[in-house]
Amino acid sequence: MTSQTRPQNSREVQLEDDELIVTKTDSTGHITYANRVFMQLAEYAESELLGKPHNLIRHPDMPRGVYRLMWKTLHAGREFFGVVKNYTASGNYYWVLANVTPDYDSKNKLEGYFSVRRPPGRRAVETVIPIYARMCQLESTLSKATAPDASMEWLLAELAKQGHSYESFVLSLLDPNLSTGKSA
Ligand SMILES: Cc1cc2nc3c(=O)[nH]c(=O)nc-3n(C[C@H](O)[C@H](O)[C@H](O)COP(=O)(O)O)c2cc1C
Repeated sequence: MTSQTRPQNSREVQLEDDELIVTKTDSTGHITYANRVFMQLAEYAESELLGKPHNLIRHPDMPRGVYRLMWKTLHAGREFFGVVKNYTASGNYYWVLANVTPDYDSKNKLEGYFSVRRPPGRRAVETVIPIYARMCQLESTLSKATAPDASMEWLLAELAKQGHSYESFVLSLLDPNLSTGKSA
């Protein structure tokens, strides 16, 4: 998506409470599978997704530090939970709670990764918006090379003050009734 193709009035679209977005990637983050819910919400045909890097749907409000933490966690062989904002093909956006896990074959060799996403609930979204804005602001003052690590470290230090890892923070924000925020 280029800035020329983004609509002026980008609007939020919602994943329904009973819907899950599923995608899989190879070990380099190129999409190998996308379910129908993802294709419908993100407004892509399967042929436009397969083989493409997953940053195709990256939203600029998402700090690079969050993705740095995601890849660090995955490379350590662990699963990652994150609150994520993504673009649709036409430039609208949606929020999800993403669980991303390494995918191993029967010989324990890394095949790639898969991600399952559900609505995060309004409380989680409202809580992360100012934190992500601070991270993006910090990243804008730094070089491309240093920004992701510095912003990730800032996030982890801020959350540590509250006794949280990013994972425990994200999980603490979840709405037990999986509300999308429409009625919350
Ligand atoms: C299974 C899986 C799912 C991913 N899902 C998303 C996603 O929904 N949105 C996104 O922007 N990046 C997602 N990523 C991360 C991207 O690969 C990429 O690291 C991120 O968009 C940051 O872009 P950059 O590497 O160009 O900075 C996912 C990666 C994997 C392995």
